[in-house]
Amino acid sequence: MRTCVRKWMLPSGFGPGGFYFVEGTVLVVEGNPKDSVAIIGPGKVGTAVGHLLRKAGYRVEVLAGRTEGLARKAARFADAAVRPDCILITTTDDAIRTVCESIAKEGIRPGSKVIHMSGAGGLDLLESARRAGACVGSIHPIQSFADVQCAIENIPGSTFGITVDENIRDWALQFVRDLGGYPFFISETDKPLYHAAACMASNYLVTLMHIVERIYRSLGLSREEAVRAFWPLVKGTILNIETKGAVQSLTGPIARGDVGTIEKHLQALLDKHPELHDVYCLNGMHTAEVAVEKGTLTAQKAQEIRSLLERRRER
Ligand SMILES: NC(=O)c1ccc[n+]([C@@H]2O[C@H](COP(=O)([O-])OP(=O)(O)OC[C@H]3O[C@@H](n4cnc5c(N)ncnc54)[C@H](OP(=O)(O)O)[C@@H]3O)[C@@H](O)[C@H]2O)c1
Repeated sequence: MRTCVRKWMLPSGFGPGGFYFVEGTVLVVEGNPKDSVAIIGPGKVGTAVGHLLRKAGYRVEVLAGRTEGLARKAARFADAAVRPDCILITTTDDAIRTVCESIAKEGIRPGSKVIHMSGAGGLDLLESARRAGACVGSIHPIQSFADVQCAIENIPGSTFGITVDENIRDWALQFVRDLGGYPFFISETDKPLYHAAACMASNYLVTLMHIVERIYRSLGLSREEAVRAFWPLVKGTILNIETKGAVQSLTGPIARGDVGTIEKHLQALLDKHPELHDVYCLNGMHTAEVAVEKGTLTAQKAQEIRSLLERRRER
């Protein structure tokens, strides 16, 4: 390993027209096996990933944001330095293309990597970098990050969907493993479907919990009492899913084929929460299929339940 002095251009800030770039003279430690990474967008994901990469031995060189204050705040978690082998764009999805174009306009080192971490965005967002000679990709954690600390704790152990240029597949695998994640490759065509599933797992779960909370609050419970009432049930179910899988975790009237109970539920919802009636019906129709897969419901009984729910939904 040897140390030498290098000249390098790095993004130093944002202005109305995009980034400001400055030329710098920096000390570079040659022979370091891990890449140097510049992070643009010091929000929850950018800050947390910067912190974890640094812990894994990467040189996190720039944490650029639109405001100096944010960049400073983020720098608490990851050192700012220079000369990126990899530029990680962790801005909001809508800003990725513009930010990438700004970087490409200033010139990208051919062969360096430009990566975003959006689940929904494709590689088209990074086309300007590819034209400038970079290898591009998206490396997306299947996780929900409410804040930086939660992101630092939850990134390790998360699975990452990787969509990258062929020649950086091995690099991307290592990058994810260095974050403590589980990598898998997803084609650009399948990415929207993959992301829809991730959104349903997280966002629709939140919506479902909100519905349950609303019903319990309408019965006189406070928000805290409502959460206390349904949380052990939810936690138990989630733990069952983790250990036994979704199909084996199914219980309840649909799994048992108790049509009378289902009818009572439908009537109660129509009387007190008609706005939630359709949600119950639609979810119930899918639940009947899970019960058939589990083997607790015959195909005929499942069809009976599905028809009932379909009829009620159309009323
Ligand atoms: N949060 C999650 O649960 C999650 C999970 C998986 C993947 N992701 C992906 O990770 C990426 C970042 O998400 P996040 O949750 O970390 O977002 P975030 O906390 O809102 O952070 C976004 C950062 O980008 C900066 N930014 C926005 N527009 C910019 C622009 N035009 N130029 C430069 N910087 C800009 C923001 O600065 P300002 O404050 O100045 O706007 C902020 O620092 C997104 O692609 C998202 O899809 C997020």
